[in-house]
Amino acid sequence: MISIEGLTKIFRLNQKDITAVDDLSLTIQNGEIFGVIGYSGAGKSTFIRLLNRLEEPTAGKVTIHGQDITAMNKNKLRIARQDIGMIFQHFNLLWSRTVAENIAFPLEIAGVPVTKRKARVRELIDLVGLTGRENAYPSQLSGGQKQRVGIARALANNPKVLLCDEATSALDPETTNSILDLLVDINQKLGLTIILITHEMHVIRKICNRVAVMENGKVVEQGDVLDIFLHPKKEVTQKFVKQVMGSGEEDELELLRETYSNGKLVKLHFVGESANQALISKLSKQFEIEVNILQGKITQTQRGAYGTLVVQLIGTQSEVEMASQYIQTETSVQLEVIQDAN
Ligand SMILES: Nc1ncnc2c1ncn2[C@@H]1O[C@H](COP(=O)(O)OP(=O)(O)O)[C@@H](O)[C@H]1O
Ligand SMILES: [Mg+2]
Repeated sequence: MISIEGLTKIFRLNQKDITAVDDLSLTIQNGEIFGVIGYSGAGKSTFIRLLNRLEEPTAGKVTIHGQDITAMNKNKLRIARQDIGMIFQHFNLLWSRTVAENIAFPLEIAGVPVTKRKARVRELIDLVGLTGRENAYPSQLSGGQKQRVGIARALANNPKVLLCDEATSALDPETTNSILDLLVDINQKLGLTIILITHEMHVIRKICNRVAVMENGKVVEQGDVLDIFLHPKKEVTQKFVKQVMGSGEEDELELLRETYSNGKLVKLHFVGESANQALISKLSKQFEIEVNILQGKITQTQRGAYGTLVVQLIGTQSEVEMASQYIQTETSVQLEVIQDAN
């Protein structure tokens, strides 16, 4: 069991206090897939980073399987962290290492001898479906494959808990589904507890048993996913439920406008030649912006990607404008502006 009591994180920035996580309490059962949903800025990433103390809490307590994480010294924490794997939106792979070497990395750190290490890496590569790609470099992989490496690496030391921070938010819908299937597979095969953070309700619907809705650093509603879908109480929860229940396209766009009031919302039309994943990662690499895929239907064919993606571009006005210009002038993707709040 994971028990979280009165967890609080206050950042001090320019002489102002920002309460990112506000007196949050939750209990998560062993072996469940627990979702945390909230809009950008709700405090989700801070919350999940407090669980393994990538952030130090201002107050409160986190107990994982009876061990008080918050009270541990550095040494104990280092050992406890081997039981807590983590995956990220942008994969955080080592670019100069191959797939196998990336997966071996946490085993090296843990001091696992080389023959044992090799056997474990092979096992993990099979588990995540990357057989044949052992010697590829991250730059040669698709987004979905990169996240598979991230998952294998996170599982290397046999953790009991896996933390996922927007692990599918940089992926197109089809790839998202395949990664979510993999997480369910791992949860069932290994009995791993999964805590998954997202801003997308369809992710919650697809794989979570229970969900907590976060707003302003607090859990405002929680329960079984089905109950939440049938009887959302808070306004924020109702909006999330609508995300996946939306009917007509115009209604959906209107909902997106309401929901994602910051940054620039654009609809990208892919017409064959261009690889959608390559474009999305290129945008976030080349410009100082965050690219969130909100919605879309893309069909991959031998000749490229067909379909549309609605994405949110977040960054300074000039960076977002340069990125939009880039799409319009340097690619064959057509761009339609849905909303510009910059
Ligand atoms: N290192 C930091 N320093 C100052 N403020 C931060 C820091 N990290 C997050 N915040 C602030 O805390 C709030 C919650 O952020 P975050 O946890 O990233 O939310 P989410 O993941 O839900 O988008 C935001 O207002 C954010 O600006
Ligand atoms: Mg976040």
